[in-house]
Amino acid sequence: MRIGVLTGGGDCPGLNAAIRAIVRKGIDKHGHAFVGFRDGWRGPLENEHIELTIESTRGILPRGGTILGTSRTNPFKRDGGPEQLKQNLAGLGVDGLIAIGGEDTLGAAARLHAEHGVPVVGVPKTIDNDLGATDQTFGFDTALHVATEAIDRLHTTAESHNRVMLLEVMGRHAGWIALHSGLAGGADVILIPERPFDVDEVCRLISRRHSRGRSFSIVVVAEGAVPREGTMETVTAGTDEFGHERLGGIGQRLEREIERRTGYETRATVLGHTQRGGTPTAFDRVLATRVGIAAIDAASERRWGTMAALRGNAVEMVPLKDAVVQLRTVPDADFDAAETFFG
Ligand code: F6P
Repeated sequence: MRIGVLTGGGDCPGLNAAIRAIVRKGIDKHGHAFVGFRDGWRGPLENEHIELTIESTRGILPRGGTILGTSRTNPFKRDGGPEQLKQNLAGLGVDGLIAIGGEDTLGAAARLHAEHGVPVVGVPKTIDNDLGATDQTFGFDTALHVATEAIDRLHTTAESHNRVMLLEVMGRHAGWIALHSGLAGGADVILIPERPFDVDEVCRLISRRHSRGRSFSIVVVAEGAVPREGTMETVTAGTDEFGHERLGGIGQRLEREIERRTGYETRATVLGHTQRGGTPTAFDRVLATRVGIAAIDAASERRWGTMAALRGNAVEMVPLKDAVVQLRTVPDADFDAAETFFG
C-alpha cells in the first residue's frame, strides 16, 4: 500500500516519534511506501509532499515539532477542498491517510471520511489533552513538566520578593495543564475554562493565605479561563480558519486586577509556546510510538474511520468521530479536589 501521513493543528512534542513509528513498522513489517504531506491539510490540498523512508525518519524520536510541518488549514474552508484532496490522493496513488492531530484536524478527518469517503485513520495529539475517546494525548505530559518547572521557579522568586506570581498556561477549552501543573507545583489558586471565576473570590483566597502568615502566592490560570459574567472585562483578538479565537491576555488582566484589589505586588508570566516546543518526555515518546504503531496496523487492515486511543493502559482503535463529538474537559470532582489547597 501507499500511505499518506500528515500532522495538523498546533504542534506538540511526540509528533516525530509517531511519524517514525508509523514509517518504521509500515515499511519493515507491512511493506508499505509513504508519502509525507506538508503542513497538515494544506499538503494534500496543494499536492505538497515528500517521501518518508526509514532513513529520512531516523534520529527524530527525541526531536520536538514535526518534520512534516503543520498548519491550521481547514479543507472545508477551501472551494472544492474535499474533491481537490481526493483527486490529489488518487493522482499520487495513495491508498489511505494517517492524520495526526487534535480537535480540528481529526474533526476534518472524520468529516472527510463520513461525507466524502476519504480513507483515513486518526492519531490523537494535543498538549491540551482535551480530545474525547482517549484517556490521554501525547504532548500533554511534556507540557505539564514545562509548566510545573515554571511554577517551581516562580515559587522561589515569589518568596524572595513577597509577590503574587501568576502563571498563564495553555488550555483553550480544558484546564488540564493548569490543573495538573498547579497541583504538582502547589499553586494557591488555579483557574480553568470549565469554571468561570470570580476575581473577588480569587483575591479573597490570596488575602486569606497572606493573613495566615504567608507573604507570597502562586496563581495558575489557563489561557481559556473566563471571569464570571459581569465580574471583569474580557477581550478577543480575531479567529483562525476553524473559527477559534486567538487567546492570551487573561494573565496580564488578572495581574492588574489582583494588584489593584489586594494591594499585593503582582507579576504575570505567560508560558506560551515553550509548552509546545522541545524534546518530548519519555512518557510522550512511548505513547506516541504506541499510537503510531496501532494506527499503521489499522491502516494496513483498511480500518478507515478509526482512531488509535489510549484506554486505561491499552491502546485500542475507536471510531474517529468519537474523538470530536465531545471534548474531554476537567470533571468537577478533579477541580473540587484541587480546591482543597486554595488560599
Ligand atoms: O491547541 C493547542 C494550543 O496549544 C491551545 O492551547 C492554544 O490556544 C493554541 O494551541 C495556540 O496555538 P497557536 O498560537 O499556534 O495558534
